[in-house]
Amino acid sequence: MLKQRMFSEIKTLKSEIASEIEAANDLKALDDVRVTALGKKGRITALMKTLGAMDPEERKTKGQELNALKDEIAALIEKQEAALKRQAMDERLASETQDVTLSPRSSEMGHIHPISQTVEELTAIFADMGFTVAEGPDIEDDYHNFTALNFPPGHPAREMQDTFFLPNDPEEDGERAHKLLRTHTSSVQIRHMQAHKPPHKIICFGRTYRSDYDMTHTPMFHQMEGLLIDKDIHMGHLKGCLMDFVRAFFEIDNLPVRLRPSFFPFVEPGAEMDIACSRKGGGLRLGGNPDGSVDGWMEILGCGMVHPNVLKNCGIDPDTYQGFAFGMGIERMAMLKYGIPDLRTFFESDVRWLRHYGFDPLERPNNATGVQKTT
Ligand code: PHE
Repeated sequence: MLKQRMFSEIKTLKSEIASEIEAANDLKALDDVRVTALGKKGRITALMKTLGAMDPEERKTKGQELNALKDEIAALIEKQEAALKRQAMDERLASETQDVTLSPRSSEMGHIHPISQTVEELTAIFADMGFTVAEGPDIEDDYHNFTALNFPPGHPAREMQDTFFLPNDPEEDGERAHKLLRTHTSSVQIRHMQAHKPPHKIICFGRTYRSDYDMTHTPMFHQMEGLLIDKDIHMGHLKGCLMDFVRAFFEIDNLPVRLRPSFFPFVEPGAEMDIACSRKGGGLRLGGNPDGSVDGWMEILGCGMVHPNVLKNCGIDPDTYQGFAFGMGIERMAMLKYGIPDLRTFFESDVRWLRHYGFDPLERPNNATGVQKTT
C-alpha cells in the first residue's frame, strides 16, 4: 500500500517538476526550480530523507527510483539551461549589429608611446646586425643583479645602484634569496649565458629600478642591454658595432663618437660612449661641425669588454671566449632623438603629451623612411 503511494507520489512529483522546468523562461527562474527540487531543502531531497525509516528491501527499490528521478530532473534542467543560453545568444546576435562600413574617426586615433617607438627602432638596427632579443625578470635576486656581475657583497659600486628590496624568498638560499627590483638589464647577460652555450649575440629591453627622482631620473626607467661573446673579439669590434649603431639611430652618417674610460665592475676595460653635440645658439644640436671640429660631447651609453670573472661565473672559459657588453637608457635615447626635455613626463600618462610626442601608428618613422617627425 505504502509502496503504491510512494510510487504515484514520485510520478506526480516528476511531472510537476518537469512542467516547472519547461515553464522557466530565464536562467534565474530555472535555478529557483533547481533549488526547490534538488536543493538542501528541496522536494526530492525531502523524499530521500524518508528512506532512512524504511525497511531494507523497500529502501533498496525506493532508493533506486528516487535516484533515477534525481538524474532525470538534473538532465531536464541541463537541457533547459542549454536551450535558454542558446536563445539568449540568438537574441544578442540579432540585436547587437555592428556597422563595419563606418570609417575610423582619425581624431580619436591613439599614438605610439616614444618608448615603444624607440624600442622598435633599436630592435631593427640590432636585428640588422644579427642580434636576437633575450628577456629576464624585473624581480631579480642579489646574485644575478650584483654578485655574478662581479659586484660581490660589500662592493662599493653597489651603492651607486640603490634599489627597492623585497622580502626574502624562503625557497632559495644566500644571495639568490635576496629579492630586489633589478637596477639594470645586465642581469639578463648572466641569465642568458648560464642558459645557453656561446657564442652569444643578444640584446634585451626592460624596465629597471633605482631609488632616484629628479628631472633626469625616475624610480622606474627602461634600459637596453647588448652582449656579444665569441672567439677573438676585441675592443675594435665593440667600437665599430656601437659607432654603426649610433649613426644609424641618430641618422647622422659621420656623427663623431668617442670612448671615455669608465668603471663598471662587470667589464674590463670599461668605457662610456659620447656623441658630438653643440649647444651654440641655444638648444641642442647633435653632430659635429661641417669642418669636422666638435664643440662638445654628450654621454649616451656604458660599455666594455666582459670581465673574465663574469665569464667564469657563467661557465665560460675566458681564454677561449671574449666579448663586449653595452647598456643604455631608452628614455635618454628617445629624449635626444626626439627632443623631449623632461624624463618625468614619460610616465605622467598625459594624453596631450602623448599626442605631441607620440607617433601616428600608420605613419611612424622607420629605418627606411627616416625621422619624419621633428619637434
Ligand atoms: N649596466 C650599466 C648601467 O646600468 C650599463 C652597462 C652595461 C655598462 C653593459 C657596461 C656594459 O649603468
